[in-house]
Amino acid sequence: MDTIDAVFAVLAETAPEIREGLVGRREYQEGENPSGEEQLAADVHADQLLEERLLAVDGVGSYASEEREEIVGDGSGLSVAVDPLDGSSNIKPNNTMGTIVGIYDAALPAGGHDLVGAAYTLYGPITTMMTAVDDTVTESVVEDGERHTVTEDVTLPDDPTVYGFGGRVPDWPDGFTDYAREIESDSSLKLRYGGAMIGDVNQVLTYGGVFAYPALESAPEGKLRLQFEGNPIGYIVESAGGRSSDGNRSLLAVDPDGLHGRVPVYVGNTGLIDRLETALDE
Ligand code: F6P
Repeated sequence: MDTIDAVFAVLAETAPEIREGLVGRREYQEGENPSGEEQLAADVHADQLLEERLLAVDGVGSYASEEREEIVGDGSGLSVAVDPLDGSSNIKPNNTMGTIVGIYDAALPAGGHDLVGAAYTLYGPITTMMTAVDDTVTESVVEDGERHTVTEDVTLPDDPTVYGFGGRVPDWPDGFTDYAREIESDSSLKLRYGGAMIGDVNQVLTYGGVFAYPALESAPEGKLRLQFEGNPIGYIVESAGGRSSDGNRSLLAVDPDGLHGRVPVYVGNTGLIDRLETALDE
C-alpha cells in the first residue's frame, strides 16, 4: 500500500471510533482552537486519534490540524493537514459532520498544487468516504473500519439541482447577493444547507450544484481555512470534473497565508462557478 492509500485506510479505520466517541463528547472544553472557535471534547478526541495514527504511517512526516497551533512530526516525507471534525457545531442538534484530510508533498502551509491526494469521511446516517488521487474520485461506504467502493469514478452530474450558501445574508457583499438572487430564481435549483461543509459539498458531488462560504463584509477572507478545508475540497471537486474558486481563481492556485489562514470557498459545477466569478467581477 502506498502512503496516500495508507492515509485513506487510517481515515476509514478511525471513523468508527470517531463516530462512537461523539456520544458523551458534546460539551465544550475550556479554551479555543487557533481560529478562535470553541472546542468540543469530540474535536479534541478526533484530533488525538488522527495525530497518533497518521504520524505512524510510513512516509508521513508532518501532521497539522485545525485544532492545534503547531505542526507536529519530523518534517520528512508527506504532510497531512486535517480537520478532525468538520461542522462540529452540528453535534448538539445531531446533524451531519465530517473529517477532512489534505495530503501535501510539501512543508505546510502549502498551496493546493502541492496536494497529492485528499479525502473526507462523512458521518451521516451511514459513514461514507470520498477519496481523490490522480484525478479520480472514489466513493466508499465504511463498515467496521473498512472501505467498500460504491462509485468508482465520481463526477458531478451535468444537470445541477442544489445550492447551499453560508454566512449571514446581510453580511454578504453585493456581488454575492446578486449571484444568490440569480441562483434562487433558477427553477432547476433548490436550497439545501446543513451547516457542515462536508455534508453540503457531498450533496453537490451527488446531485450537482454549488456550495459557497463566501467572503463577508465583516470577514473578507470568509470563514473556512485554506489548508484544512479549501484546498482539499477544491482538489476533490476539481478531480470530479467541477471547479473551485476563491472568487477569482482556483482554490488550488491561492497562496497560503499562514497555517490557519482563511479563504472564501466556492465549489461546484463549472458553469455555476463561472457565473459566480462573473457576478463578483461586475
Ligand atoms: O469550518 C467550520 C464549519 O462548521 C463548516 O463545516 C461550515 O461550512 C461552516 O463552518 C458553517 O458555518 P455557519 O455556522 O456560519 O453556517
